[in-house]
Amino acid sequence: MRIAVIGSGYVGLVSGACFSEFGVEVICVDNDAAKIARLQRGEIPIFEPGLDQVVQTNVANGRLRFATDLGTAVEGADAVFIAVGTPSRRGDGHADLSYVFAAAEEIAKTVKDYTVVVTKSTVPVGTGRKVAEVLRKRLPESKFDVVSNPEFLREGSAIEDFMRPDRVVIGTDSERAAGVMRELYRPLSLIEKPILFTSLETAELIKYAANSFLATKITFINQIADLCENVGADVQDVARGIGLDGRIGRKFLHAGPGFGGSCFPKDCLALVKTAQEASAPLTIVETVVASNDSRKQHMAERIIQACGGSVKAKTIAVLGLTFKPNTDDMRDSPSLAIVPALQQAGATIRAFDPEGMSEAKKQLTGITFCSGSYETMEGAHALVIVTEWNEFRALDLDRVKSLLKTPTIIDLRNIYKPADMAEAGFHYFSIGRGAAAPVRQRLQAKS
Ligand code: UDX
Repeated sequence: MRIAVIGSGYVGLVSGACFSEFGVEVICVDNDAAKIARLQRGEIPIFEPGLDQVVQTNVANGRLRFATDLGTAVEGADAVFIAVGTPSRRGDGHADLSYVFAAAEEIAKTVKDYTVVVTKSTVPVGTGRKVAEVLRKRLPESKFDVVSNPEFLREGSAIEDFMRPDRVVIGTDSERAAGVMRELYRPLSLIEKPILFTSLETAELIKYAANSFLATKITFINQIADLCENVGADVQDVARGIGLDGRIGRKFLHAGPGFGGSCFPKDCLALVKTAQEASAPLTIVETVVASNDSRKQHMAERIIQACGGSVKAKTIAVLGLTFKPNTDDMRDSPSLAIVPALQQAGATIRAFDPEGMSEAKKQLTGITFCSGSYETMEGAHALVIVTEWNEFRALDLDRVKSLLKTPTIIDLRNIYKPADMAEAGFHYFSIGRGAAAPVRQRLQAKS
């Protein structure tokens, strides 16, 4: 089988590389010539563990190629995947679909034989039908079908998510197109991964509903964390206590500084807009969006309180800037709200992130960027952990104490235990672990 993937951003590149790993012949297309030149030289423009290896192997065996010319890529392809960006449109929160429709126009100009046109980009309900309209203007019905095949890739584990997904969703009205998609995903049906066939609209909505539900779960536990702090309970125990109920599940119940990234904030907003326009408002998701935005802002206030009510003329060490570990992505990261607010309050910031430094330098100004965790702490009045990179989980606490001017740690990801930190002599602040936490640890130590 042969496919073309239009858009060599995160989704396009990972999907293209993984399909080639399945044995499909893949051409990834992008109109950014510099990006394609880098890929052709074997450089991977994003940080995604394992991606370089998959690309390298499949480029070497000739199954994966990169090009700027859409025409040659589309010609003779069994399926063309549209994986271009759908950013939030400025002003109204709607997904900007101009790149999707531009890609459809280009495909329509080139297609000769029957081709399945697949939207992989996250697109609002109804987009698939509009893509079909664009194609219909130039092509007879018999030459194409449109399919919605949303991705559920998490940054940092995208290869694993593609190769061993919980499910694959394929939305189409056409049996012929379903056959092509079934063939493409055959390696996954062989390992008994569920392949769900639905209508176009349903597939499009599944993607938004999944992300908004997960974002709701996170926001729920974040609000419970606030309650825990006020009533002396421990959010991690609450999360475990509810998560062990199979109907709730344990995943996505880690309280923290609020969700970020390229998907949750944007997809929640887009779903809110779609629902309002369809006269079925999703007030739960509206609340999630508002609560998450204010939470990120509120984190700086917590840090200021932990520093005795003022950070004026104080130095704050920040570990972790990306929206989560194992990515260099800064989009909607909590650090983008926290750091400027601390600066505004008069703090000097020293910061380090294992992979996000070059992105961070573009988006945060007036910071001293350091080359490692300990250097960041030198002379700081407090240490703030914003992102839970593994290398921050086992800091040498004596060394941390000797480097900080005052032994204050604000751990926004709960990667340390309050009792251990108290024993090490730190003023330790974390999320949703009220006075109950030390009690629990004493009880556990006894049992
Ligand atoms: C998400 C979805 O998981 C994926 O299926 C979709 O296709 C793209 O969006 P991603 O944005 O890469 O993936 O990150 P994810 O691991 O889902 O985390 C999103 C945000 O939620 C991060 O800021 C993370 O720190 C936060 N989060 C996640 C929590 O605060 N608590 C949790 O329990 C889980």
